[in-house]
Amino acid sequence: MLKVGLIGYGSMGSMLVASLIRSGRIKPEEMIVSTRTKSKLQDIKNLWGRINVTEDNCEAVREAKYIFICVKPLQVKEVLLEAKPYITPDTNIISIAGSVPMKFIEEVSGAKVTKLTPSLTSEAMDGISLVCHSDSVSEEERQFIETLLGGISTVKTVREEGLELAAELTSCMPGFIAAIFRNLTDSAMRQGSGITREDAEEMIIRTLYGTAKLFVEKSMGFDEMIERVATKGGITEEGVKVFDEMLPGVFDEMFRRTLAKRRIVKEKVESGLGMK
Ligand SMILES: NC(=O)c1ccc[n+]([C@@H]2O[C@H](COP(=O)([O-])OP(=O)(O)OC[C@H]3O[C@@H](n4cnc5c(N)ncnc54)[C@H](OP(=O)(O)O)[C@@H]3O)[C@@H](O)[C@H]2O)c1
Repeated sequence: MLKVGLIGYGSMGSMLVASLIRSGRIKPEEMIVSTRTKSKLQDIKNLWGRINVTEDNCEAVREAKYIFICVKPLQVKEVLLEAKPYITPDTNIISIAGSVPMKFIEEVSGAKVTKLTPSLTSEAMDGISLVCHSDSVSEEERQFIETLLGGISTVKTVREEGLELAAELTSCMPGFIAAIFRNLTDSAMRQGSGITREDAEEMIIRTLYGTAKLFVEKSMGFDEMIERVATKGGITEEGVKVFDEMLPGVFDEMFRRTLAKRRIVKEKVESGLGMK
């Protein structure tokens, strides 16, 4: 039996296949990928040589124990129902559809279920994978999944009810960081110093990279970093004061709106899947 199957070779599915293989924690020949568009299968073979591919989701489920489901939330039910005859009590489904409840996947499939919130940062073999296992997933299975994902990220286990806020801090965060620093670049441009946008972006991005390394490699906390850079009465301190005054409102509003949006999406998905 193969180790890992993956259904849905889209943005996240292709990122997971590439990163997992690059991590060396799984070999291409230990994986089987199925996706809807036939022409993609040859591309996958061209990229990953001995990987197994199929246009039949049932074959992927029949051949592997751990099955990543990487389709859009509203497609999850049809994929599970199609594959159900081949799902055994030993099958472990790893669903990345955040808005589809674990209980629903368990009830429809009869399999053991793990929810995974991956992050685009795994393309750079870093960042956080959020994982939540159902009670039926054994210790050995948890270890397999977490070791696999540990090759492309740091794995954090969370309870299902904590997944949404945690996803804001991990999976959404590359987008938030880009938006924050795009605004900072725009503001720098408005100051009219003669620095080009390209140079400003390079300065910010290299500084972000170096700062992240200090946080991770030197275990610096946020307060320590500010203390090290912002001398009393200096320029950095002045800027930090502005952030401390104005950003709490911005971030509170962001969470208010993103979490409200999640509730709307969840209701739509639950109604689309016939749960309501
Ligand atoms: N994007 C993110 O940053 C992110 C982060 C965390 C979680 N997620 C979750 O990840 C999931 C996938 O998102 P995505 O952005 O990767 O979407 P995507 O690019 O649209 O990929 C979904 C893929 O599913 C395939 N598919 C659809 N129906 C199928 C079927 N019946 N059988 C087999 N394959 C089928 C399609 O394959 P073909 O192309 O072959 O037609 C499509 O490429 C979603 O549930 C999303 O909520 C996304």
